[in-house]
Amino acid sequence: MPKKIVAGNWKMNTNIAEGIALALGLKELLKKSEVEYIICPPFISLEAISKMLADSCIKIAAQNMYFEEKGSFTGEVSVTMLPGLVQYVIIGHSERRQLFGESDEMINKKVKACLEHDLIPILCVGETLETREKGEAQEFVSEQLQKDLEGLDKAKVVLAYEPIWAIGTGQTASPEQAEEMCSFIRAQGLTGNSILYGGSVNAENASNLAAMPNIDGFLVGGASLKAKEFGKICAAMQN
Ligand code: PGA
Repeated sequence: MPKKIVAGNWKMNTNIAEGIALALGLKELLKKSEVEYIICPPFISLEAISKMLADSCIKIAAQNMYFEEKGSFTGEVSVTMLPGLVQYVIIGHSERRQLFGESDEMINKKVKACLEHDLIPILCVGETLETREKGEAQEFVSEQLQKDLEGLDKAKVVLAYEPIWAIGTGQTASPEQAEEMCSFIRAQGLTGNSILYGGSVNAENASNLAAMPNIDGFLVGGASLKAKEFGKICAAMQN
C-alpha cells in the first residue's frame, strides 16, 4: 500500500516569525497517524522549523533545490545543504516550470540528485487547460513522467498530479478527473508510489477526493497556510 501523505506547500509566504508560529500551531494540532504530514516552508525558516519539529510527527520538505553540490550558482540552494533539515523536496512544481523556466532535463537532474542524497523527491506533473481541452492531458503527463524519471529508480519518488488550471484558481479537479489521471500515472510503472493530487484542495473538497482509490494524498497550497484548515484536510485523508 502506498503511504498516505498530506503536504502543505507554503510557497513564498511567511517570514521566519510567521513560519514558526504556523509550524507551532500544526505541531499542537497534528498527532501521529498512518498519514505522513509534511510542511514545505521557505528556505529561510527551514533551520528553525526543523529544530522545532524534531520531536514531532511532522516531516519537512524544501520547495526546490539545485542539483549541483556546490559552486558558482548565485542564489541557489544545493542538494548537499538540505539533508538534516528536510526529508523531502518538491521538484518541478508548475510555478518553477512556468515562471522560472525549468525544463524536464533540469528536473530529471534534480530528481536524480535527490535520490543520490537520500532525499525523497515530490515530483509535480500536470497539464494546462489548453492541453486538457485538446484531449491531450494524458499524453502530456506521460511525456513529463518519462522525461523527468528517465534512467532513474522510480521506487522512492512521490508523485503529485497538479493540473495547472486548478492551482490557486479555486477550480478543483473533480474527484473523477483527479482519479482518472492518478490511476493513469499509477499505470506508468508507479504501482507502489504515493500519488498525490494538488490544485485548490481545501477542507470542503478534501473528503471526496480522498475517497478515490488512486489518490494517496494531497499537495496543498493556499489552504496549508491556516493551521486549522490544514488540520481538517489531514483528517479527511485519515478517514
Ligand atoms: P493551491 O496550490 O492549493 O493553492 O491550488 C497547490 C500547489 O501549487 O501545490
